[in-house]
Amino acid sequence: MSRLLITGGSSYLGQHLVSQALPEHEVLYTFFSRDPLGLPHGRYLDVRSETAVSQLVADFAPDVIIHTAGSNRGDDMAAVIEQGAAHITQAAASAGARLIHLSTDVVFSGRGGAPYDETAVPDPVNAYGRAKAAAETAVGAYPNHVIIRTSLIYSLEHMDHGTAWMAAALRAGQPVTLFDNQIRNPVWVNTLTAACLELAHHTYTGILNVAGRQVLSRAEFALKMLDWWGIEERQTLAVGPSLGEQWPLNCELDVRRAMALLTTPLPGVDEVCQTAVFPSAT
Ligand SMILES: NC(=O)c1ccc[n+]([C@@H]2O[C@H](COP(=O)([O-])OP(=O)(O)OC[C@H]3O[C@@H](n4cnc5c(N)ncnc54)[C@H](OP(=O)(O)O)[C@@H]3O)[C@@H](O)[C@H]2O)c1
Repeated sequence: MSRLLITGGSSYLGQHLVSQALPEHEVLYTFFSRDPLGLPHGRYLDVRSETAVSQLVADFAPDVIIHTAGSNRGDDMAAVIEQGAAHITQAAASAGARLIHLSTDVVFSGRGGAPYDETAVPDPVNAYGRAKAAAETAVGAYPNHVIIRTSLIYSLEHMDHGTAWMAAALRAGQPVTLFDNQIRNPVWVNTLTAACLELAHHTYTGILNVAGRQVLSRAEFALKMLDWWGIEERQTLAVGPSLGEQWPLNCELDVRRAMALLTTPLPGVDEVCQTAVFPSAT
């Protein structure tokens, strides 16, 4: 049974990943401000602390690290993403552990170049994209790594961050605009967790696009999620383009390499919804 360290076990993705990984792996996961899983496998970790990261990794001696901590949420976002990736990479190198790092399609501007394959060079337009691009550079210096570039993550059992925000705003009667000029490949959380665990034990190294094979605007995706979750309050809903320079536009990922490499299928949103059981509660 291999030893698997999951950073950000309290994240939306991390919680699913821990649950999927536990039966087959000796898992240690980390959290920062809260531990929604509340399992004995959880440890507090601030990835901005080089000492804390190196100590935790040295003590656990993982075979594989899946680094999910650091998203577009929270205070000190750039430091968590950039310093965290650098510290985790150093610690993985010291431990000789394989490193699976979660990155994002918004390392791209989406202003020419889509669909982006694994050779595409980041050209981020906002702070989150710049921090994730810098994190990729740090991770890429260590040979035994995979950088997973992925897209909007959703589940049909636990509402994703974006849908939860929309639902709350619509129920409160606040205006919500769904952007029809931002293009993504939303990925089912079960797909992404299965791909992470498959790659943990794979020989592949380098960048890999792992996302759903259905390409949708953020507006189309949002409406599918609102339908799925039965959110009927839509009086304050509008559809239109995002106009600011800081918004990445067409970030479609070319997922052909992952489709050829992995046994994990990459279904699109419609395929996932058609085969799933309708939720009993929101
Ligand atoms: N969600 C998406 O649609 C999406 C799309 C593309 C890529 N990604 C990538 O996928 C990964 C997971 O995203 P997510 O949305 O599931 O994340 P999330 O729910 O926003 O959670 C962020 C995680 O980072 C942890 N964290 C924050 N500050 C930290 C610190 N100083 N030290 C250690 N951990 C810290 C949080 O811990 P606490 O909660 O305990 O504070 C939490 O586990 C990220 O790398 C993200 O960039 C996500």
